[in-house]
Amino acid sequence: MKLSSHLFALVAAAGVAAAPAAARADGADRKLIERGRYVIKIAGCNDCHTPGYAMSDGKVPEKEWLTGDQLGWRGPWGTTYPPNLRRTMARLSENEWLKLAHNANFRPPMPSPSLRNMSDADLRAVYRYVRSLGPGGGEVPAYVPPDGSPVGPVVMFPAPN
Ligand code: HEC
Repeated sequence: MKLSSHLFALVAAAGVAAAPAAARADGADRKLIERGRYVIKIAGCNDCHTPGYAMSDGKVPEKEWLTGDQLGWRGPWGTTYPPNLRRTMARLSENEWLKLAHNANFRPPMPSPSLRNMSDADLRAVYRYVRSLGPGGGEVPAYVPPDGSPVGPVVMFPAPN
């Protein structure tokens, strides 16, 4: 058992050594994408940016992840809708994404500090992962100011006293 797995590892290693540069980069990319997937999962981004995720204990097919949500979040700041992050990232280069994330200062309930404090390595991994998902989903409703009427259902936050 042990011997055959060693043999397999040797054969696999020889295969990698002989593989062209592009194929080796693919392996590194896959690792980065997998790390991005992990960061997205543990940072809770799906809770708001994926329809039904928080309510179903995460039982939403990955092809629907991060496509944004029509459910509004209404409070003293107005009503915000978690954008389709696949579209957001498709509009940005990797470096533009880093800049946006480092300066994140979005309206509630977006946890901007979580994004601002993410390491460059994690942010790059997140970018690669989200881009790897490809296009999916549409636009979410536009931000509605406090005196406006939200479109569709909302989660209500209490007004400050
Ligand atoms: C509690 C809900 C919630 C969680 C959790 C959340 N977001 Fe958001 N996010 C929002 C809302 C709502 C907005 C829109 C804010 C606004 O309109 O200013 C937003 C906006 C954004 C934007 C701006 C996108 C654009 O196109 O303008 C980015 C980027 C973003 N979120 C990334 C993330 C990432 C990455 C995570 C996980 C670390 C995350 N969000 C977790 C609710 C959330």
